[in-house]
Amino acid sequence: MSGNLPVATARFRLGTSGDTIDWSRPRAGVSIVTIETHVAEHYTQGTLEQRILTALREAGKDPDRLDPDDLAPVDEFHHGGRSATAAFAPRLKLRPGIHLLEIGSGIGGPARYFARYHGCRVTGIDLTEEFIVVSRALTRRLGMEGQVRFEQGSALSMPFSAATFNVATLLHVGMNIAEKARLFAEVRRVLKPGGIFGIYDQMREADGDLTFPVPWASVPQTSFVETPATYKRLLTESGFEVIWQRSCREDALTSFNQQTAAKPGSTALPPLGVQVTMGLSAAEKMANHRSNIERGLVAPNEIVARAPVFSI
Ligand SMILES: C[S@@+](CC[C@H](N)C(=O)[O-])C[C@H]1O[C@@H](n2cnc3c(N)ncnc32)[C@H](O)[C@@H]1O
Repeated sequence: MSGNLPVATARFRLGTSGDTIDWSRPRAGVSIVTIETHVAEHYTQGTLEQRILTALREAGKDPDRLDPDDLAPVDEFHHGGRSATAAFAPRLKLRPGIHLLEIGSGIGGPARYFARYHGCRVTGIDLTEEFIVVSRALTRRLGMEGQVRFEQGSALSMPFSAATFNVATLLHVGMNIAEKARLFAEVRRVLKPGGIFGIYDQMREADGDLTFPVPWASVPQTSFVETPATYKRLLTESGFEVIWQRSCREDALTSFNQQTAAKPGSTALPPLGVQVTMGLSAAEKMANHRSNIERGLVAPNEIVARAPVFSI
């Protein structure tokens, strides 16, 4: 795995279970359940809904009279936020009425975007229970429950029948999943023949140690960043035809430079931003993420693949 990093000797305590794991053991011995427990813990805050409502008020919004776009600064938890989702959407062959599966749906921003701006019926699935609770609460506030629903569960074993969805999306989730071949086989299972699978993940662009924490992982052991070539090979082996791939590294560097130019020397974050969803040490995670991209180690990449027209 090209995302391999030195195995740290850190031990840390699980907030909810009180269990401990010795990360110095080889990662091959760490089960999917253990990885998923730690991934969900990384994202869990316990107070996220309240923090979002407070941030909205501080930004001058009324949480009882929200427009879905009011949430865009906080509910699109991936590089480039809403503009990245909107730029990627035209590649996904979206049409009103189709059923879209948002895998690793976070607090639901992309799911609500695809419903509102492309007329899709959307199902989101996410590992992190608090994110599902917050997704549902925000969707209720916006009166969008008829178009968007959320289920708690693992992308590696989804509670959906075969050939259910026209399109599946995976936005900044693959970095948390070691078993990508199993993930892609599961996505192929739930997609209809000819269905489209859109991936927008941070991908490995050069060898070297990443600096942690980053927005998707506190420690290297829950980060599984792979090269675009590995994604494409595994997708092809799962029966997909890769029809598009693009590194968004230049866009990412441009946006970093624009941020610096707009606020020279400033480290202050606005009240309403993705740092609210990112939780503890958000500023450090964002600074490390920027440094990892500027050093050429990782960059956001888009990949679009098509499931075979005839099922086997
Ligand atoms: C960086 S967030 C991205 C959220 C959302 N896609 C977005 O762009 O706003 C990553 C999400 O992936 C979810 N996730 C990670 N591993 C998962 C898995 N194995 N199954 C389902 N969800 C997973 C996390 O719980 C988290 O909500």
